Amino acid sequence: MKRPIVELAGTGRYVPERVLTNADFERMVDTSDQWIIERTGIRERHIASAEETIACMATSACRQVLEAAGVGVEEVDSLVVGTASPDRFLPSQACDIQKVLGANNAAAFDVGAACSGFLYGLNVAEGLIAAGTGKNVLVVGAERLSKITDYEDRTTCILFGDGAGATLVRPSSDGKRGILGNYQKTDGRLGDLLYRSSGGANEPPSEEMLKGRGYFIHMAGRETFKSAVRSMADACDQALSRAGLTGDQVDLLIPHQANMRIIEATAKHAGLPMDRVYVNIDRYGNTSAASIPIALDECVRSGRITAGSIVLMVAFGGGFTWASVVVRW
Ligand code: UT7
Repeated sequence: MKRPIVELAGTGRYVPERVLTNADFERMVDTSDQWIIERTGIRERHIASAEETIACMATSACRQVLEAAGVGVEEVDSLVVGTASPDRFLPSQACDIQKVLGANNAAAFDVGAACSGFLYGLNVAEGLIAAGTGKNVLVVGAERLSKITDYEDRTTCILFGDGAGATLVRPSSDGKRGILGNYQKTDGRLGDLLYRSSGGANEPPSEEMLKGRGYFIHMAGRETFKSAVRSMADACDQALSRAGLTGDQVDLLIPHQANMRIIEATAKHAGLPMDRVYVNIDRYGNTSAASIPIALDECVRSGRITAGSIVLMVAFGGGFTWASVVVRW
Protein backbone atom coordinates (compact mmCIF):
# COMPACT_ATOMS: atom_id res chain seq x y z
CA MET A 1 0.00 0.00 0.00
CA LYS A 2 1.20 3.52 -0.84
CA ARG A 3 2.83 5.54 1.93
CA PRO A 4 0.85 8.77 2.07
CA ILE A 5 2.62 12.10 1.57
CA VAL A 6 -0.26 14.16 2.92
CA GLU A 7 -3.15 13.84 5.35
CA LEU A 8 -6.45 15.66 5.69
CA ALA A 9 -6.72 17.51 9.00
CA GLY A 10 -10.00 19.06 10.04
CA THR A 11 -13.19 19.62 8.10
CA GLY A 12 -15.88 22.31 7.97
CA ARG A 13 -19.09 23.21 6.17
CA TYR A 14 -21.66 25.92 5.71
CA VAL A 15 -25.17 25.33 4.43
CA PRO A 16 -27.60 28.26 4.00
CA GLU A 17 -30.70 28.30 6.18
CA ARG A 18 -33.35 28.83 3.50
CA VAL A 19 -34.81 25.62 2.07
CA LEU A 20 -36.63 25.03 -1.24
CA THR A 21 -38.71 21.84 -1.11
CA ASN A 22 -40.11 19.76 -3.95
CA ALA A 23 -43.52 21.19 -3.03
CA ASP A 24 -42.13 24.68 -3.72
CA PHE A 25 -41.06 23.51 -7.20
CA GLU A 26 -44.53 22.08 -7.86
CA ARG A 27 -45.72 25.70 -7.62
CA MET A 28 -42.91 27.05 -9.88
CA VAL A 29 -42.67 24.59 -12.82
CA ASP A 30 -44.51 21.58 -14.29
CA THR A 31 -43.09 18.91 -11.97
CA SER A 32 -44.06 16.71 -9.02
CA ASP A 33 -42.55 15.64 -5.73
CA GLN A 34 -42.87 12.03 -6.89
CA TRP A 35 -40.99 12.62 -10.18
CA ILE A 36 -38.16 14.46 -8.44
CA ILE A 37 -37.74 11.82 -5.73
CA GLU A 38 -37.94 8.87 -8.11
CA ARG A 39 -35.62 10.32 -10.80
CA THR A 40 -33.09 12.12 -8.54
CA GLY A 41 -33.53 11.26 -4.83
CA ILE A 42 -33.76 14.98 -3.96
CA ARG A 43 -36.34 16.23 -1.41
CA GLU A 44 -34.99 19.71 -0.64
CA ARG A 45 -32.03 22.00 -1.28
CA HIS A 46 -30.62 25.05 0.52
CA ILE A 47 -30.53 28.44 -1.17
CA ALA A 48 -28.16 31.28 -0.20
CA SER A 49 -29.50 34.70 0.77
CA ALA A 50 -27.98 37.91 -0.63
CA GLU A 51 -25.56 38.04 2.32
CA GLU A 52 -24.52 34.39 2.00
CA THR A 53 -21.85 34.94 -0.64
CA ILE A 54 -19.35 32.23 -1.46
CA ALA A 55 -16.68 34.25 0.34
CA CYS A 56 -18.86 34.28 3.46
CA MET A 57 -19.92 30.60 3.32
CA ALA A 58 -16.39 29.36 2.53
CA THR A 59 -14.82 31.48 5.26
CA SER A 60 -17.16 29.96 7.82
CA ALA A 61 -16.22 26.44 6.65
CA CYS A 62 -12.48 27.31 6.68
CA ARG A 63 -12.64 28.69 10.24
CA GLN A 64 -14.13 25.37 11.42
CA VAL A 65 -11.32 23.49 9.62
CA LEU A 66 -8.59 25.57 11.25
CA GLU A 67 -10.13 25.17 14.69
CA ALA A 68 -10.44 21.39 14.26
CA ALA A 69 -6.86 21.11 12.96
CA GLY A 70 -5.40 23.45 15.59
CA VAL A 71 -3.80 25.60 12.89
CA GLY A 72 -3.64 29.41 12.97
CA VAL A 73 -4.92 31.34 9.95
CA GLU A 74 -1.46 32.90 9.53
CA GLU A 75 0.02 29.40 9.04
CA VAL A 76 -2.02 28.73 5.87
CA ASP A 77 0.36 28.95 2.91
CA SER A 78 -2.04 28.04 0.07
CA LEU A 79 -5.77 28.38 -0.46
CA VAL A 80 -7.18 26.32 -3.34
CA VAL A 81 -10.82 26.84 -4.29
CA GLY A 82 -13.10 24.76 -6.50
CA THR A 83 -16.19 26.62 -7.72
CA ALA A 84 -18.25 26.99 -10.88
CA SER A 85 -20.32 29.90 -9.54
CA PRO A 86 -17.87 32.51 -8.19
CA ASP A 87 -19.08 35.72 -6.54
CA ARG A 88 -17.29 37.58 -9.36
CA PHE A 89 -14.86 36.67 -12.15
CA LEU A 90 -11.93 38.95 -11.29
CA PRO A 91 -10.17 38.57 -8.91
CA SER A 92 -10.51 34.85 -8.42
CA GLN A 93 -12.91 33.49 -5.80
CA ALA A 94 -9.92 32.36 -3.74
CA CYS A 95 -8.68 35.97 -3.42
CA ASP A 96 -12.01 37.10 -1.99
CA ILE A 97 -12.10 34.18 0.47
CA GLN A 98 -8.51 34.95 1.49
CA LYS A 99 -9.48 38.56 2.25
CA VAL A 100 -12.49 37.69 4.42
CA LEU A 101 -10.67 34.82 6.16
CA GLY A 102 -7.53 36.91 6.73
CA ALA A 103 -5.21 34.19 5.42
CA ASN A 104 -2.72 36.86 4.42
CA ASN A 105 0.30 34.56 4.14
CA ALA A 106 -1.34 32.28 1.55
CA ALA A 107 -1.13 32.09 -2.22
CA ALA A 108 -4.79 31.84 -3.28
CA PHE A 109 -6.16 30.52 -6.55
CA ASP A 110 -9.15 28.74 -8.11
CA VAL A 111 -9.28 25.33 -9.76
CA GLY A 112 -11.83 25.17 -12.58
CA ALA A 113 -13.14 21.62 -12.64
CA ALA A 114 -16.87 22.12 -11.90
CA CYS A 115 -18.27 19.39 -9.60
CA SER A 116 -14.84 17.70 -9.47
CA GLY A 117 -13.23 20.92 -8.21
CA PHE A 118 -12.80 19.85 -4.59
CA LEU A 119 -11.07 16.57 -5.48
CA TYR A 120 -8.91 18.31 -8.12
CA GLY A 121 -8.05 20.76 -5.32
CA LEU A 122 -6.96 17.94 -3.00
CA ASN A 123 -4.74 16.58 -5.75
CA VAL A 124 -3.19 20.02 -6.38
CA ALA A 125 -2.62 20.37 -2.62
CA GLU A 126 -0.82 17.03 -2.49
CA GLY A 127 1.38 18.18 -5.37
CA LEU A 128 2.24 21.48 -3.65
CA ILE A 129 3.28 19.65 -0.49
CA ALA A 130 5.20 16.95 -2.38
CA ALA A 131 7.10 19.73 -4.19
CA GLY A 132 7.96 21.38 -0.88
CA THR A 133 5.91 24.48 -1.78
CA GLY A 134 3.27 24.14 0.94
CA LYS A 135 2.74 22.83 4.47
CA ASN A 136 -0.81 23.93 5.29
CA VAL A 137 -3.06 24.00 2.23
CA LEU A 138 -6.73 24.88 2.68
CA VAL A 139 -8.91 23.24 0.04
CA VAL A 140 -12.44 24.56 -0.48
CA GLY A 141 -15.44 23.52 -2.58
CA ALA A 142 -18.14 26.21 -2.60
CA GLU A 143 -21.11 27.06 -4.81
CA ARG A 144 -23.98 29.48 -5.16
CA LEU A 145 -25.61 27.62 -8.05
CA SER A 146 -28.97 29.27 -7.36
CA LYS A 147 -27.57 32.40 -9.05
CA ILE A 148 -26.88 30.58 -12.32
CA THR A 149 -29.89 28.25 -12.31
CA ASP A 150 -32.79 28.82 -14.72
CA TYR A 151 -35.89 28.55 -12.52
CA GLU A 152 -38.04 28.24 -15.64
CA ASP A 153 -36.23 25.07 -16.82
CA ARG A 154 -37.73 22.09 -14.98
CA THR A 155 -35.01 19.75 -16.26
CA THR A 156 -32.28 21.54 -14.28
CA CYS A 157 -33.80 23.85 -11.64
CA ILE A 158 -34.95 21.05 -9.35
CA LEU A 159 -31.37 19.72 -9.08
CA PHE A 160 -29.15 22.43 -7.63
CA GLY A 161 -28.41 23.84 -4.18
CA ASP A 162 -25.87 26.12 -2.46
CA GLY A 163 -23.23 25.54 0.22
CA ALA A 164 -19.55 25.26 1.06
CA GLY A 165 -17.13 22.76 2.58
CA ALA A 166 -13.40 22.65 3.26
CA THR A 167 -10.47 20.71 4.66
CA LEU A 168 -6.78 21.25 5.39
CA VAL A 169 -4.08 19.24 3.61
CA ARG A 170 -0.73 18.91 5.40
CA PRO A 171 2.23 16.48 5.45
CA SER A 172 1.24 13.06 6.81
CA SER A 173 2.03 12.99 10.53
CA ASP A 174 2.84 9.27 10.76
CA GLY A 175 3.27 8.04 7.18
CA LYS A 176 0.06 5.99 7.56
CA ARG A 177 -2.77 8.54 7.69
CA GLY A 178 -3.61 10.35 4.51
CA ILE A 179 -4.10 10.08 0.78
CA LEU A 180 -3.37 6.53 -0.40
CA GLY A 181 -4.36 6.94 -4.04
CA ASN A 182 -5.87 9.48 -6.37
CA TYR A 183 -6.85 10.09 -9.96
CA GLN A 184 -8.16 12.87 -12.16
CA LYS A 185 -9.28 12.94 -15.78
CA THR A 186 -10.91 15.30 -18.28
CA ASP A 187 -12.68 14.93 -21.63
CA GLY A 188 -13.13 18.43 -23.07
CA ARG A 189 -14.80 16.98 -26.16
CA LEU A 190 -17.93 16.54 -24.03
CA GLY A 191 -17.93 20.13 -22.74
CA ASP A 192 -21.09 21.10 -24.63
CA LEU A 193 -23.23 18.62 -22.67
CA LEU A 194 -23.04 20.74 -19.49
CA TYR A 195 -22.21 24.42 -19.89
CA ARG A 196 -23.07 28.11 -19.63
CA SER A 197 -22.74 29.75 -23.03
CA SER A 198 -22.63 33.42 -22.11
CA GLY A 199 -21.41 35.89 -19.56
CA GLY A 200 -17.77 35.22 -20.51
CA ALA A 201 -15.60 36.97 -23.12
CA ASN A 202 -17.16 35.06 -26.04
CA GLU A 203 -20.63 36.40 -25.26
CA PRO A 204 -20.32 39.29 -22.83
CA PRO A 205 -23.40 40.32 -20.85
CA SER A 206 -26.09 41.97 -22.98
CA GLU A 207 -29.88 42.23 -23.06
CA GLU A 208 -29.94 39.55 -25.75
CA MET A 209 -27.87 37.24 -23.57
CA LEU A 210 -30.38 37.53 -20.75
CA LYS A 211 -33.32 36.85 -23.11
CA GLY A 212 -31.52 33.80 -24.54
CA ARG A 213 -30.96 32.45 -21.02
CA GLY A 214 -27.39 31.50 -22.00
CA TYR A 215 -26.24 32.83 -18.67
CA PHE A 216 -27.76 29.82 -16.91
CA ILE A 217 -26.56 26.22 -16.62
CA HIS A 218 -27.62 24.02 -19.54
CA MET A 219 -27.36 20.26 -19.34
CA ALA A 220 -28.12 17.34 -21.61
CA GLY A 221 -29.32 15.27 -18.65
CA ARG A 222 -29.49 11.78 -20.12
CA GLU A 223 -26.07 11.94 -21.84
CA THR A 224 -24.51 13.48 -18.74
CA PHE A 225 -26.05 10.73 -16.61
CA LYS A 226 -24.53 7.99 -18.77
CA SER A 227 -21.07 9.59 -18.74
CA ALA A 228 -21.28 10.12 -14.99
CA VAL A 229 -21.98 6.44 -14.33
CA ARG A 230 -19.11 5.35 -16.61
CA SER A 231 -16.60 7.90 -15.36
CA MET A 232 -17.28 7.50 -11.66
CA ALA A 233 -16.78 3.74 -12.04
CA ASP A 234 -13.47 4.42 -13.83
CA ALA A 235 -12.42 6.85 -11.09
CA CYS A 236 -13.18 4.31 -8.31
CA ASP A 237 -11.11 1.64 -10.06
CA GLN A 238 -8.15 3.93 -10.71
CA ALA A 239 -7.79 5.39 -7.21
CA LEU A 240 -8.25 1.99 -5.55
CA SER A 241 -5.72 0.37 -7.84
CA ARG A 242 -3.18 3.15 -7.20
CA ALA A 243 -3.75 2.67 -3.46
CA GLY A 244 -3.36 -1.12 -3.75
CA LEU A 245 -6.87 -1.60 -2.34
CA THR A 246 -10.06 -3.32 -3.43
CA GLY A 247 -13.64 -2.10 -2.93
CA ASP A 248 -14.31 -4.45 -0.02
CA GLN A 249 -11.57 -2.70 2.00
CA VAL A 250 -13.39 0.64 1.75
CA ASP A 251 -15.24 1.63 4.94
CA LEU A 252 -17.13 4.53 3.38
CA LEU A 253 -17.78 5.78 -0.15
CA ILE A 254 -18.53 9.50 -0.46
CA PRO A 255 -19.74 10.07 -4.02
CA HIS A 256 -20.58 13.43 -5.57
CA GLN A 257 -24.30 13.94 -4.91
CA ALA A 258 -25.74 14.51 -8.41
CA ASN A 259 -28.40 11.82 -8.67
CA MET A 260 -29.34 8.92 -6.36
CA ARG A 261 -29.34 6.51 -9.30
CA ILE A 262 -25.74 7.52 -10.21
CA ILE A 263 -24.73 7.04 -6.56
CA GLU A 264 -26.29 3.55 -6.49
CA ALA A 265 -24.62 2.56 -9.78
CA THR A 266 -21.23 3.74 -8.48
CA ALA A 267 -21.65 1.79 -5.23
CA LYS A 268 -22.64 -1.33 -7.15
CA HIS A 269 -19.60 -1.04 -9.40
CA ALA A 270 -17.29 -0.66 -6.39
CA GLY A 271 -18.97 -3.69 -4.76
CA LEU A 272 -20.15 -1.67 -1.78
CA PRO A 273 -23.51 -2.15 -0.01
CA MET A 274 -25.49 1.08 0.47
CA ASP A 275 -24.82 1.08 4.22
CA ARG A 276 -21.19 1.90 3.33
CA VAL A 277 -22.20 4.80 1.07
CA TYR A 278 -22.87 8.32 2.34
CA VAL A 279 -25.96 9.97 0.92
CA ASN A 280 -27.26 13.47 1.67
CA ILE A 281 -28.64 14.37 -1.77
CA ASP A 282 -32.17 14.22 -0.29
CA ARG A 283 -31.35 17.24 1.92
CA TYR A 284 -29.05 19.32 -0.30
CA GLY A 285 -29.54 18.38 -3.96
CA ASN A 286 -26.50 18.83 -6.17
CA THR A 287 -24.10 21.42 -4.71
CA SER A 288 -21.40 20.74 -7.33
CA ALA A 289 -17.87 21.27 -5.89
CA ALA A 290 -19.32 21.67 -2.38
CA SER A 291 -21.04 18.29 -2.26
CA ILE A 292 -18.10 16.10 -1.22
CA PRO A 293 -16.59 18.43 1.43
CA ILE A 294 -20.03 19.03 2.98
CA ALA A 295 -20.59 15.25 3.15
CA LEU A 296 -17.06 14.67 4.49
CA ASP A 297 -17.62 17.14 7.30
CA GLU A 298 -20.97 15.56 8.21
CA CYS A 299 -19.31 12.13 8.36
CA VAL A 300 -16.38 13.30 10.49
CA ARG A 301 -18.52 15.27 12.95
CA SER A 302 -21.13 12.51 13.30
CA GLY A 303 -18.49 9.81 13.93
CA ARG A 304 -19.26 7.98 10.68
CA ILE A 305 -15.57 8.44 9.86
CA THR A 306 -13.09 7.69 12.67
CA ALA A 307 -9.30 7.32 12.91
CA GLY A 308 -8.19 4.60 10.50
CA SER A 309 -11.35 4.65 8.31
CA ILE A 310 -10.66 4.04 4.62
CA VAL A 311 -12.72 6.61 2.68
CA LEU A 312 -13.17 6.70 -1.09
CA MET A 313 -14.36 10.01 -2.56
CA VAL A 314 -15.39 10.19 -6.20
CA ALA A 315 -16.71 13.07 -8.32
CA PHE A 316 -17.91 13.87 -11.82
CA GLY A 317 -18.85 17.17 -13.43
CA GLY A 318 -18.87 19.65 -16.29
CA GLY A 319 -15.88 19.47 -18.62
CA PHE A 320 -16.40 16.58 -18.41
CA THR A 321 -14.09 16.12 -15.44
CA TRP A 322 -13.89 13.25 -12.99
CA ALA A 323 -11.67 12.45 -10.05
CA SER A 324 -11.20 10.24 -7.02
CA VAL A 325 -9.24 10.23 -3.79
CA VAL A 326 -8.87 7.36 -1.33
CA VAL A 327 -7.74 8.34 2.12
CA ARG A 328 -6.99 6.66 5.44
CA TRP A 329 -8.46 8.96 8.10
O1 UT7 B 1 -23.23 17.29 -11.22
C1 UT7 B 1 -22.63 16.60 -12.25
C2 UT7 B 1 -23.39 16.36 -13.45
N1 UT7 B 1 -24.77 16.14 -13.32
C3 UT7 B 1 -25.30 14.90 -13.40
O2 UT7 B 1 -24.61 13.93 -13.37
C4 UT7 B 1 -26.78 14.79 -13.60
C5 UT7 B 1 -27.08 13.76 -14.67
N2 UT7 B 1 -28.45 13.67 -15.12
C6 UT7 B 1 -29.51 13.37 -14.32
O3 UT7 B 1 -29.40 13.30 -13.13
C7 UT7 B 1 -30.83 13.06 -14.98
O4 UT7 B 1 -30.63 12.91 -16.36
C8 UT7 B 1 -31.94 14.11 -14.73
C9 UT7 B 1 -32.40 14.05 -13.30
C10 UT7 B 1 -31.42 15.50 -15.05
C11 UT7 B 1 -33.13 13.81 -15.62
O5 UT7 B 1 -33.64 12.50 -15.36
P1 UT7 B 1 -33.89 11.47 -16.55
O6 UT7 B 1 -34.47 10.27 -15.94
O7 UT7 B 1 -32.60 11.33 -17.29
O8 UT7 B 1 -34.98 12.21 -17.38
P2 UT7 B 1 -34.96 12.59 -18.93
O9 UT7 B 1 -34.11 13.78 -19.15
O10 UT7 B 1 -34.69 11.37 -19.72
O11 UT7 B 1 -36.47 13.00 -19.14
C12 UT7 B 1 -37.54 12.06 -19.02
C13 UT7 B 1 -38.85 12.80 -19.04
C14 UT7 B 1 -38.94 13.83 -20.17
O12 UT7 B 1 -40.26 13.84 -20.66
P3 UT7 B 1 -40.62 13.08 -22.03
O13 UT7 B 1 -39.76 13.70 -23.08
O14 UT7 B 1 -40.30 11.63 -21.77
O15 UT7 B 1 -42.07 13.38 -22.18
C15 UT7 B 1 -38.66 15.13 -19.49
O16 UT7 B 1 -39.24 16.24 -20.13
O17 UT7 B 1 -39.00 13.55 -17.83
C16 UT7 B 1 -39.32 14.90 -18.15
N3 UT7 B 1 -38.78 15.77 -17.08
C17 UT7 B 1 -39.50 16.07 -15.98
N4 UT7 B 1 -40.74 15.74 -15.59
C18 UT7 B 1 -41.17 16.23 -14.41
C19 UT7 B 1 -37.58 16.35 -17.01
N5 UT7 B 1 -37.49 17.07 -15.89
C20 UT7 B 1 -38.67 16.92 -15.24
C21 UT7 B 1 -39.17 17.41 -14.01
N6 UT7 B 1 -40.42 17.03 -13.64
N7 UT7 B 1 -38.45 18.23 -13.20
